[in-house]
Amino acid sequence: MKFTETGMKNFNRIVSLTIVLLSGIQLAQAETVLITGANRGIGLEFSKQYAAKGWTVIATHRRTETPDSLNELLTTYPDTVIIERMDVADLAMIDAVAQKHRGQPIDILINNAAIVGALSYMQQQIFGQLDHDLFDPFMHTNVRGPLKISEAFLKNVKSSTLKRIVMVSSLAGSISSGPGKRPGRIYYKTSKAALNMATTTIATATKDDGIIVVVLHPGGVKVEKLKEFDLPDFIEPEESISGMMRVIAELTPAQSGAFLDYKGKILPW
Ligand SMILES: NC(=O)c1ccc[n+]([C@@H]2O[C@H](COP(=O)([O-])OP(=O)(O)OC[C@H]3O[C@@H](n4cnc5c(N)ncnc54)[C@H](OP(=O)(O)O)[C@@H]3O)[C@@H](O)[C@H]2O)c1
Repeated sequence: MKFTETGMKNFNRIVSLTIVLLSGIQLAQAETVLITGANRGIGLEFSKQYAAKGWTVIATHRRTETPDSLNELLTTYPDTVIIERMDVADLAMIDAVAQKHRGQPIDILINNAAIVGALSYMQQQIFGQLDHDLFDPFMHTNVRGPLKISEAFLKNVKSSTLKRIVMVSSLAGSISSGPGKRPGRIYYKTSKAALNMATTTIATATKDDGIIVVVLHPGGVKVEKLKEFDLPDFIEPEESISGMMRVIAELTPAQSGAFLDYKGKILPW
């Protein structure tokens, strides 16, 4: 079969158009998530599950050496996992990482890192014997960190397709619920209540940009450090994180500012 000159030109046009369309589809699928505190616990499970789905994962940690858990993840997904050192209590380090990723759209920003202190700081958080030196570290890490990171990476989120900011908080920060009313863990609970308020305020501030900002409670999750304890109501990380990923994927703009659990249930403030 012979091609005329016009026929050849049209054929070339169709090929070029197909290439442009296909690369467009590929770009649309190349979604990116940034996760803080990604080296263990809930943050590591988020990193594993998003990486397994083919996402670009910017996994951040605060250690001086890259943790083994993240090196393993990088070995499994060398093309899509990026590891960054980012101490969420260090404002300059946050700015430096944000500067490095300037122009990179981030579809989902997950502020997960926190001082939990469930095992290490129990006695020091009991009213009457409070260690007041712990107040600042809890607040800097659990509240100022997510606030600063959300500001520093706002343009990245704004320029993405999905535009989501997730604060991993806790029902322990709920003033009206059971856990919030129990004694003890004052610094942790206060920091999570403050994070919840910060989140609703960020949600209002970013509404016009089409950004969806939510607070998520992961449930009681049997992360590595809790494995040895008998916690019948706690769930495995796989269940909590796959649940939260489903909730995040299905969020609508009307839900911005909401406080949800890993099943998508609305929680009391
Ligand atoms: N597990 C649960 O049952 C549960 C329940 C409700 C809410 N949550 C929330 O879920 C989130 C993750 O909890 P988890 O159970 O996975 O806790 P985890 O096992 O204690 O892990 C905490 C993570 O945060 C990181 N981190 C702490 N301070 C940091 C800082 N200044 N800069 C960067 N990273 C820092 C830790 O890094 P290092 O390894 O360097 O310490 C670690 O990667 C927290 O926000 C927590 O409040 C957990």
